[in-house]
Amino acid sequence: MSPPHERPVALITGAGKRVGAVIARTLHAAGYDLALHYRHSAAEAELLAASLERQRSGSTFTVQAELADLDVLPAMVQRVIDRFGRLDALVNNASAFYPTPVGTATIAQWNELFASNAQAPFFIAQAATPALREAQGAIVNMVDIYAERPLANHPLYCMAKAALEAMTRSLALDLGPDVRVNGVAPGAVMWPSDGKPYDDQQAMLARTPLRRAGSPDDVAGAVLWLLRDAPFVTGQIIRVDGGRTLSV
Ligand SMILES: NC(=O)c1ccc[n+]([C@@H]2O[C@H](COP(=O)([O-])OP(=O)(O)OC[C@H]3O[C@@H](n4cnc5c(N)ncnc54)[C@H](OP(=O)(O)O)[C@@H]3O)[C@@H](O)[C@H]2O)c1
Repeated sequence: MSPPHERPVALITGAGKRVGAVIARTLHAAGYDLALHYRHSAAEAELLAASLERQRSGSTFTVQAELADLDVLPAMVQRVIDRFGRLDALVNNASAFYPTPVGTATIAQWNELFASNAQAPFFIAQAATPALREAQGAIVNMVDIYAERPLANHPLYCMAKAALEAMTRSLALDLGPDVRVNGVAPGAVMWPSDGKPYDDQQAMLARTPLRRAGSPDDVAGAVLWLLRDAPFVTGQIIRVDGGRTLSV
């Protein structure tokens, strides 16, 4: 029998690039071994895994999945447990984000936006629950301040993130006392990668008490705190938005 895996293990979805990759680097530096999920960003995920492996051999592996494909989700969780023998943390980070103005929205868009932002997080959490219970672990869901204060012309995205907020509270109730479940709701921390100018970037920053966009490190710090340093916190959504939701 192999000796039990000593380090805590985290599964992060959408970890190949952007905010997910920064969360991965932050958790890895804090001593977590990682399963890095990606969908299309294979090259970025493999580069990230290689760089983390150079820092600590045997600490990281990648797992590919289309999260709309519900059948593969239990197998993805099982691969993590087969590899490391434990699972302490799940970070539901993967997300689709685009406008769906009323009058144009389609069922395909509904399915795509709900798949990554609400449906997969639930079914991954469900598959991971036995291992998380055993590890007395935690879940962090990446939500959005737009779940609470909607972004114009993005009703389906805002609804899907609101479902993820509701799921955060429901699972906190149902998985306690073994598993804590919280959410992080970023304001602007990374502009969308499609290169399109965000409607009112400057106006948005002017309304933000801290007068700047956040950084992915701000988000990753909150994720690490919730996972590792907040043993009496569950069912909470921590806004990391520079205070933006305070202004009308
Ligand atoms: N960026 C911000 O300022 C901001 C603000 C508020 C909230 N957030 C939240 O913070 C999280 C990270 O933000 P981000 O901007 O870094 O996210 P992102 O770049 O928009 O998306 C992260 C990853 O999600 C994966 N993904 C999307 N749909 C998927 C699907 N159907 N199956 C599998 N993977 C899928 C993609 O992976 P592949 O590339 O591998 O396909 C993508 O790289 C998200 O949950 C987002 O909603 C971000």
